[in-house]
Amino acid sequence: MVQLNLPENSKVKTGKYFKDKTGSKNIRKVNVYRWDPSTGENPRIDTYEVDMDSCPSKVLDVLNKIKNEIDPTLAYRRSCAHGVCGSCAMNMGGKNGLACTTPHAEIDGDLDIYPLPHLKVKRDLIGDLDGLYKQYESIEPWLKSNSKSETSEIYQSKEDRAKLDGAYECIMCACCSTSCPSYWWNGDKYLGPAVLLQAYRWIVDSREEERKERLKKVADELKLYRCHTILNCTNACPKGLNPAKAIAEIKKMLATTNV
Ligand code: SF4
Ligand code: SF4
Ligand code: FES
Repeated sequence: MVQLNLPENSKVKTGKYFKDKTGSKNIRKVNVYRWDPSTGENPRIDTYEVDMDSCPSKVLDVLNKIKNEIDPTLAYRRSCAHGVCGSCAMNMGGKNGLACTTPHAEIDGDLDIYPLPHLKVKRDLIGDLDGLYKQYESIEPWLKSNSKSETSEIYQSKEDRAKLDGAYECIMCACCSTSCPSYWWNGDKYLGPAVLLQAYRWIVDSREEERKERLKKVADELKLYRCHTILNCTNACPKGLNPAKAIAEIKKMLATTNV
């Protein structure tokens, strides 16, 4: 019988325990995934006792507090702190989201923080998004309107502009793709919800002149049809977007367009 075991060096061990030194009566335990490839050691979960009386409301504030006051070795991405750049995406309390917009009060019990699921980890909470960005590049995310003058405005009606609503707001945080079981198992070939939503955004742009070529490019058993409409992606999106619907729309266009 086949035995499926995790390699010994991938097992997550219990890590260090950082006891509160402030004497606060309002302590929260924060369990954080840690891994440093330069040490050759297994990943571990470090636990920090954090004084919540002096901590603002978001999970990113908790991480900043840990880094600034308890353990400067903790690594994570963040930039805008306003839900705009997408760099602080991680898994908090078992759910993908943006650390800078997720209130820690909404997560019950200990606060468990992991990198986005099913990515290779670069270090601690930093997932490796190289593959996802290569896939993003592959859909050529820019307007192709070669026949139009480059010096004058390309007209778009209000109705056509409205077709981009629900797509242009995507910040490429990868919360959706990393919550998609199809992307977990076939992430090297299946484009996943984040990139397919971007593909959709250019396909439906009224100014785009290579709509058919774009459709042809994604019309592939592995790139597109690995989506089985499980909808994890839509549930995970911190911007309230619906990538599953965009994927269904692409499939519908392919079924009704002669490409
Ligand atoms: S709807 Fe498609 S893209 Fe979204 S989680 Fe399901 S399989 Fe993945
Ligand atoms: S669709 Fe939502 S979850 Fe997916 S990358 Fe865009 S903003 Fe992030
Ligand atoms: S830091 Fe930019 S989205 Fe969170």
